[in-house]
Amino acid sequence: MLVKNQIIEGKCTDYTYNGLGVVKYDTFCIFVKDMAIDEVGQIKITAVRKDFCYGRLLKIIVSSKHRTEPKCPISRPCGGCQVQHLSYQEQLSFKRNHVQNTMDRIGKLDKKINEVIGSENPYYYRNKVILPVSVDKDNNMIVGFYRYNSNIIIPLEECYLQSDKANRVVKKLKKLFEKNKLHNQIRYIMLRDMEKTSELMVVIVTYQKEVDLKDVVKEVVKFEPTIKSVMQNINGKRTNVILSDESVLLYGRKYIQDELCGLTFNVSAHSFYQVNNFQTEVLYNTVVSLANLSKEDVVLDMYCGVGTIGLVLSRYCKEVIGVEKVEQAVIDARENAKINNIDNATFICGDVEKVSKKLLKEGKCFDCIIVDPPRKGCSKKTIQTLIDLNSKKIIYVSCDPSTLARDLALLKQQYNIEIIQPVDMFPQTY
Ligand SMILES: C[S@@+](CC[C@H](N)C(=O)[O-])C[C@H]1O[C@@H](n2cnc3c(N)ncnc32)[C@H](O)[C@@H]1O
Repeated sequence: MLVKNQIIEGKCTDYTYNGLGVVKYDTFCIFVKDMAIDEVGQIKITAVRKDFCYGRLLKIIVSSKHRTEPKCPISRPCGGCQVQHLSYQEQLSFKRNHVQNTMDRIGKLDKKINEVIGSENPYYYRNKVILPVSVDKDNNMIVGFYRYNSNIIIPLEECYLQSDKANRVVKKLKKLFEKNKLHNQIRYIMLRDMEKTSELMVVIVTYQKEVDLKDVVKEVVKFEPTIKSVMQNINGKRTNVILSDESVLLYGRKYIQDELCGLTFNVSAHSFYQVNNFQTEVLYNTVVSLANLSKEDVVLDMYCGVGTIGLVLSRYCKEVIGVEKVEQAVIDARENAKINNIDNATFICGDVEKVSKKLLKEGKCFDCIIVDPPRKGCSKKTIQTLIDLNSKKIIYVSCDPSTLARDLALLKQQYNIEIIQPVDMFPQTY
C-alpha cells in the first residue's frame, strides 16, 4: 500500500489520455506528469485514491529516448502544455495510440487508425490566447497561465504556443492596466491573432461595466497598429465561463478577418474558430479530399460555426446548408458567404437536433453530411436523425475521441466506418 509523501522508484510504461506517465507499482498505477515511456524515475506520491495514486517526478534515473528538452522554462509547473517534454514524433504516437485504444474500447470498431497528420509548426501556432489576470499579495498584477491542477496563476513572460506579437501585446496590456490602476478590475485578456491577415482582436474581460479603459485602448492601439478590434466583455459571474453575452465595442470593428483555404472569414469574439491555422487548412483539405464531391451534390454542414467547412466545400458542390446555434456565428457565416461571392450556401440558426429533424421531415436528401460538434458530441436524437437521413457519406470531425467513439458505435448500425484520420491540432498539449 502506498502512502502520501512516500518516495519510490518506478518505470513509466504507458500514458494516460491526458499525457501523464503511467508507472505500475504492486497493484497500483501511479500517474506522473512529465514522464516519458521507458523512463525510470524517483517519484514522490502526492495523492492516494482507492485504485491509483498521483506522483511527482523528483529525479530521472534512466532517461527515455522519447524525452526532449522543452522550449518553455515553465512547461513543468504550467497547466498549459502537458507533453512538451516528449519528442514531437512521440507526441504523435501517443495521440494515435490514444485514438486507437478509445475506438477499440468504447466504439468496439475493430478498425486500424491512420497515422496522425503532424504539424510542420509545432510551436507558435495558437491564434487565440486566453489569460487570467489577478493580483498578488503585494497588489502587483499577475497575468499568466494556471499552475497545473490549481487556480494559482503563474506569471507569463513568453508562451511558445502563441505568436511573438501576442506575447508583446499581453506584456503591454499588463503595464497599461498597472499604470491606470485597474487592479482587481480585469478578469481575463483574450486575443485573437490572425497570421495571414495580421489582424488582431483584443477582448478585455472585466468584472463590472464601469471600468475606464479609454487610455488603455488608446495606448495599446498605438503600440500595435494591427489591432483592428478592441472589445470589453463584462463577466461578473463566478463560473469558469470566460465570456458572458454582454460585450461593448471599444475600438475598430466587432470582428477581425482571417484567410483559410483561399477564403476570407470574419471572426467575432464569441464565434468558434479553430485555434491552429496551419493545421486547420490540413484538416479542411482532408475533409475536401474525403468528401470527394461532385457538382450535383448537396451538403449539410452541422455545427457549422462561422461557416468555414461548408464554405470551403461550396466550391465543389451544388449546395451547402449550414446549421449553427450561436446567432453571431450565423451572422458571420452569412457575411462570409457574401464577402467570398459564394451564392450556393445558406445558414440556419438553431439547434442541430431540431433543425436536422425538420430537414428530414421536409424530405431533404444530402449526399454528404459534415458533423463537427463540440466535445460532448451529438445527442442520441441527432444520431438517430443522421441514421434516418441515410446520407451517402458522413464526415465526422471531432475534438474528443471518446465521444466520437460513442457516436460511431451508434452510427455503425447504418454506416460503414471507412477511415479514421487523426490530425494533430494541438501540438505540445493533449
Ligand atoms: C467544434 S465547433 C465547429 C465549428 C466549425 N465547424 C469550424 O470548423 O470552425 C462546434 C460548433 O457547434 C456549435 N454548436 C454547439 N452545440 C450546438 C447545437 N446543439 N446546435 C447547433 N450548433 C451547436 C457551437 O456554437 C460551435 O460553433
